[in-house]
Formats: sequence, C-alpha cells, structure tokens
Amino acid sequence: MGKDVIIACDFKNKEELLNFLKPFQGLNPFLKIGMEIFYKEGPQLVRELKEQGCKIFLDLKLHDIPNTVEKAMRNLSELGVEIVNCHAAGGIEMMKAARRGLDATEQGKKSELIAVTQLTSISQEKLEKELLIEKPLPEVVKTYALNAKAAGLQGVVCSPLEAPIIKELGLISVTPGIRFADGSKDDQVRIATPDYAKELGSTYIVVGRAITGATDPVAAYKRCVKEFC
Ligand code: C5P
Repeated sequence: MGKDVIIACDFKNKEELLNFLKPFQGLNPFLKIGMEIFYKEGPQLVRELKEQGCKIFLDLKLHDIPNTVEKAMRNLSELGVEIVNCHAAGGIEMMKAARRGLDATEQGKKSELIAVTQLTSISQEKLEKELLIEKPLPEVVKTYALNAKAAGLQGVVCSPLEAPIIKELGLISVTPGIRFADGSKDDQVRIATPDYAKELGSTYIVVGRAITGATDPVAAYKRCVKEFC
C-alpha cells in the first residue's frame, strides 16, 4: 500500500459519521475508526464502511496477555481492514500473538499490523515519574519500534518528526499531529504540515480536526492529498 491520507473519524456515533461522509461519495477515503465509535457501533459499522468502498485503519490499540490479544485479533481478522494496531508496551510475545491472530483468515493476512510506541500524551516527565522508564523518549520509541519489527509487525504509529528513524528501520509510519500551515494547532504539540510529513517520509498521515472541523471538509481532504501524496 502506498502513501495515503487517513481521516480520523472521531465521531460519537454512526449517524454523525455518515452525515460527515455524505459529500465524500465516490472519493472512497481511508478512515480511522477508533475506540469511541467502535464501542458504540461494533464491527457492523466497519463492514458497512468497507462495503461502501472505504479503507479502514481500526485504531483499537490492543494490549493484554498474548493469548487474549491473539483471540481478539482473530475476531477482528475477518473484517479485512487495511490497518489495525496494538501497544508495543505489551511486549514482543504479545505482538507476535497479535499477528498470529490476524493471520487466522485470508483477508486478515493482508491487514497491516502496526504498534503504538509511546502515546503522544506521555511526556518525558511522565515516562520517568509514572512509568519509571528513565530513558530519553526517542530511544524508547526506537526500541519499541525495533521490538515491533522483531515481532513481524509492519510499522508504528508515531509523530511525523520520528518518521525518518522509522523509515530507516524499514517500517511504515502512520503519523497523526497534522496541521495546515495556516490552521490551528489545537492540543497537538509535535505537529507537521502534510507536505513536511511527506518530506520526512511518513507513509500515512492521520488527519482529524483539520478536515472534520473545516468549513469545507472535502476541500480540506483534497488539499491534504495534494500536499502529501
Ligand atoms: O484532530 P487531530 O488531527 O489532532 O486527530 C488526530 C487523531 O490521531 C486523533 O484520533 C487522535 O486520537 C489520534 N492520535 C494522536 N496521537 C497519537 C495517536 C493517535 O493524535 N499518538
């Protein structure tokens, strides 16, 4: 799969999401479906969106003992989503189990499995004081990415600013924190514009509010595609 723009569908239910998608007909966008809407609407929503021709990044961030993650991934495997993820913090054995679960069906074998390294909400201070990891954040991200690679995963979620390191490791990077040069930063800190993310070598950019909050979401989406792809 090549470079693409993924729209973060942070909507509270299916009705809001389908309303948002109406003007996108025929564009078949790549959508990120997260915990909020998935826990409300369930796997049926994903099936319907796939039937409509959308590509899906299922952002459920699995993290449990290997046996449980394998069985949960087996259930997600039949959805045949393009990308699904788990936490690298669950360890190499858990990530291997996640890949095995996903490989349970033919369509699941085609899904890319990526790892969350460190959440962008975790600062260096929290890493040290709460998680007792006394290492620089970039070193932790790189080590977790190497663990993901060793477990047979395809890539990681990270800041676009970390994309060059990830590319060097031969992994794909899925990067949120994207803003237009003339747009608002909101609560994101380590941000990049779509064209800077391209220059840094991101494989996929995840864009939420810069598209969903725009006066003309389709125009904002097309602008992202034009700058990034
Ligand atoms: O609106 P915005 O473009 O900031 O949305 C970014 C999306 O990416 C949100 O769904 C957010 O939860 C997600 N995300 C993130 N940082 C991460 C992982 C996921 O912003 N490290």
